[in-house]
Amino acid sequence: MYVGGKLREPIMITRIYEDYRRLSTNTAREIMRVVLEKPDAVLCLATGETPLGAYAEFVRQAKMQRIDISGIRFVALDEWVGIPPSNPGSCHYFLHRHLFQPLQVEPRQIHLFDGMATDLQDVCTRMDAHLSELGGIDFLLVGIGVNGHIGFNEPGVSFDRSAHVAELAPETRATAQKYFQGETVLEKGFTLGIRQIMDARTVILMANGARKTDIIQAAIEQPVSESVPASVLQQHPNSLFFLDAVAAAQLQDSSRKA
Ligand code: F6R
Repeated sequence: MYVGGKLREPIMITRIYEDYRRLSTNTAREIMRVVLEKPDAVLCLATGETPLGAYAEFVRQAKMQRIDISGIRFVALDEWVGIPPSNPGSCHYFLHRHLFQPLQVEPRQIHLFDGMATDLQDVCTRMDAHLSELGGIDFLLVGIGVNGHIGFNEPGVSFDRSAHVAELAPETRATAQKYFQGETVLEKGFTLGIRQIMDARTVILMANGARKTDIIQAAIEQPVSESVPASVLQQHPNSLFFLDAVAAAQLQDSSRKA
């Protein structure tokens, strides 16, 4: 298969954990592994409910072991257009609250999408340039939307795209209300594109709970399709699906359930 100008064989691994706590601990361990192995790694970490436990555990471990993360670089996966960083529902706020503040990450280590920018294309162009300068992403952690989105790569997205502004799907607008304190109008989102996701050296997709059971089956066991963007990870040379038992419940291939 052809990814990012190189021929590489897809390797997709599914790991199923008994519960959310074990899923989170094991995900945190993978983040820790990257940080220890590559002290200047480029990390791209999703926001949302799914990775909260993993981030809490990673922060706990990193502090306890006094890990030096001053060389790690962080890039955003996505952001809501028109939502300021002071809004607790913004990806900016989430990352600072759950990772950057507790780990004392410095601004020079961080490159996020500016949700309040007026020139949206310029924000995307600068993100593409920044990522190229960094040499791409070493470790990417994504969640999955109930409609199969990764980042804000919504169903129907072209797999060729880099950073862009997406029209948010109706399910995304509705589901995302859980992040906000009051009813919030969400129309568009900045997102890294599938091309940049596929170029990441390691990708972990994390999912838990019954809301994700059907879409996880589609993403892992149905043919790769733009209608389920996460399915593209079947073609990634080094992708891992980290699931709890509930999210994995509909997988047909019983060998995955080991
Ligand atoms: C957030 C993101 C989204 C979420 C997805 C799942 O940065 O990229 O794609 O990962 O919508 O959200 P939760 O984890 O809240 O179910």
